[in-house]
Amino acid sequence: MTEWNVAVIGGGTMGIGIAYRFVVAGAGVHLVDLDIEHAERSVGGVVAALARAADRGKLAPDQAAAAGDRVTPAGSIDVVPPEPDFVIEAVIEDPDLKTTILTAAERLDPGVLASNTSSISIDQLAAGLGSPERFAGMHFFNPVWAIHLVEVVRGAATSDETIARIVAAVAKLDMEPAIVNDAPGFASTRLGLVLGLEAIRMVEQGVAEPADIDRAMELGYRHPMGPLRTGDLVGLDVRLAIAEHLWGVYGDRFEPPRLLREMVAEGKLGKKSGRGFYDWD
Ligand code: NAI
Repeated sequence: MTEWNVAVIGGGTMGIGIAYRFVVAGAGVHLVDLDIEHAERSVGGVVAALARAADRGKLAPDQAAAAGDRVTPAGSIDVVPPEPDFVIEAVIEDPDLKTTILTAAERLDPGVLASNTSSISIDQLAAGLGSPERFAGMHFFNPVWAIHLVEVVRGAATSDETIARIVAAVAKLDMEPAIVNDAPGFASTRLGLVLGLEAIRMVEQGVAEPADIDRAMELGYRHPMGPLRTGDLVGLDVRLAIAEHLWGVYGDRFEPPRLLREMVAEGKLGKKSGRGFYDWD
């Protein structure tokens, strides 16, 4: 028996990283994806990340192996044991899909239900829930094993107890919380995207090469990573979806640049496709 039980729904880039954090912290994790084949691939991603951490000396080999044994693939929410301590939704940034998944996840009666959405209003996602007081945003950052922040998003109905449970869990994960009230894009995405979109407009206008724009922010402003390389890591399709959403909410300052649309249409999605503002081969 593990001390705490968690379900992560959506085993892509973020779900794999979130599952990694929880198993390293001793939790038992069910990692849910579209079907068992997808879920097994996601679990393979967690195990590979643990092995890389062991190779680099970040985890002891037996610690990595034990953590890998704590993650279980699940082809559907229906096979997750009831009453988990946490359910964290990390499917694609689609409000309708997230609403469907969260409603299904609520039937497990979790202690805390959270979404890893990077831009959608927590109150909008809470609208169809029976227990919105147990629901909040837990916004992790990519790569989850390297970035120690969780942006905790408090919805209008989120209870103090839920926030306290999340803050305690974040401490167990050896991470730091930043607590914000619900607003589309929260704090981090809203600010980060302004920089990211403006940098893309600058490439579009021929102001500078991507590497020079990034270097300006890295050295001039001490950002650990420039906005274009960050976009490549996040995924340019993910950035575009978020920009579309915030454009609808806040207006033209979030309008996606033409170059971003063209790159996504050409399949240049950043690191995951091998090409973006940088060549990742
Ligand atoms: P992704 O596309 O890598 O992964 C999404 C996963 O969800 C895929 O494995 C897919 O098979 C699965 N999925 C789709 N429909 C499903 C369903 N009905 N049931 C179960 N699984 C299903 O996406 P990524 O990048 O992991 O993003 C996930 C969420 O995290 C999004 O809301 C995104 O905005 C947010 N986010 C992304 C960050 C990033 O850097 N990529 C950073 C922070 C948040």
